[in-house]
Amino acid sequence: MIEACIFDLDGVIVDTARYHYIAWRKIAEELGFVFSKDDNERLKGVGRLESLEILLQIGQVNLDENEKNKLAKEKNEIYLKLIEGMTPDEILPGVTAFLKDLRKNNILIALGSASKNAPFILERTTLTPYFNAIIDGNMVSKAKPDPEVFLKGATQLGIEPAKCLVFEDAQAGIEAAINAGMHCIGIGEKENLKGADFVIPGFQEFNYDRLRSWYL
Ligand code: BG6
Ligand code: MG
Repeated sequence: MIEACIFDLDGVIVDTARYHYIAWRKIAEELGFVFSKDDNERLKGVGRLESLEILLQIGQVNLDENEKNKLAKEKNEIYLKLIEGMTPDEILPGVTAFLKDLRKNNILIALGSASKNAPFILERTTLTPYFNAIIDGNMVSKAKPDPEVFLKGATQLGIEPAKCLVFEDAQAGIEAAINAGMHCIGIGEKENLKGADFVIPGFQEFNYDRLRSWYL
């Protein structure tokens, strides 16, 4: 039986995945190469510096540490400009109703995000009060697919991993959930979410009753 749900943030609760993409595409442009939407799938769920490494690999660009740090900072500045005006309108359809439904049914809720900007985004969208635990990119040292972020969430909630269900939109996140010994539901397209127990397009048609019928 599921006792806790752990949510990824970007691409699951809010559509910030497209803002990350816009910001990285700008950096790629500056470096002189095209960064496609398909390439971007590899960055989803991955931390900022790790994402930069993948981007540089795709563009076959070599930089020293100093230049890398400068670019990561620049990417974040572009990203922050895109998210600074976020409102609750940008919460993905069905998310708030589902969070309410979970609370009504005494399911604990945690955030497990690689983003250092996660607390800011939860504040902007007024979602902070729904979460019993918030684990973000400032609190972990190992990027997904390492299970650290989800295991920390389970520990803070006091729930064993086998009773946790993760919602993820990234392949790296699905693998992190599996590595944590947790159940997981993918949000998006099946081909990008291999290994998930189930894949749903979003939370619009989803509720606690459906969850319970899947995880008896
Ligand atoms: C993840 C995103 O949630 O956070 C990644 O899926 C992003 O695309 C990562 O790189 C780190 O985010 P931030 O906000 O700390 O740069
Ligand atoms: Mg995500």
